[in-house]
Amino acid sequence: MPDLIPVLKKDEIDKLVSEVAQKISSDYQDRELILIAVLKGAYMFLSDLARRLTIPAQIDFLRVASYGANSSSSGKIQFTKEIEVNIRDKDVLVIEDIIDTGLSMRFILDHLKSFEPKTLKVCVLIDKYERRGADITIDYVCHTVQKGFLVGYGLDYAEKYRNLPEVYQLNL
Ligand code: IMP
Ligand code: MG
Repeated sequence: MPDLIPVLKKDEIDKLVSEVAQKISSDYQDRELILIAVLKGAYMFLSDLARRLTIPAQIDFLRVASYGANSSSSGKIQFTKEIEVNIRDKDVLVIEDIIDTGLSMRFILDHLKSFEPKTLKVCVLIDKYERRGADITIDYVCHTVQKGFLVGYGLDYAEKYRNLPEVYQLNL
């Protein structure tokens, strides 16, 4: 049986998501905020974050698939679901579960930039920094870890564990 070691408990997640929602609500006051969540991992984070915002926001999704490696990004990425809303001249905030090497986010940001949004920022539940290779700025971070493979609260390992309400480190 794989080991699941608790990383973020329910009350910690609630507190972290509430804090970041408050910051976003204040930063984007009187702007035209569009949240673009990266499927599938960001679905639970988006759901909690969006309902804690005190400002209007549109919601859309995109999905990328990364090929090659199992638990790390290969850098070969392609879109399997494109955004549907028009983001031109809008304030876009990309919502992601976890950033590891940063290659996926770099690819997503370069793509979204081509639609000429007014602003383009990143909000992530977990910044896992040890293997960061791509040059990206993460504007909103809930939690930081150095390394480890995390599951739960949207994050999966081979499509398992996404529905767990808390975040764990998976030791296979
Ligand atoms: P990156 O391109 O290396 O930054 O990888 C980002 C993507 O890999 C995320 O969107 C996740 O889907 C996945 N990923 C990276 N680390 C983890 C992890 O610890 N648990 C679950 N998924 C992860
Ligand atoms: Mg993901």
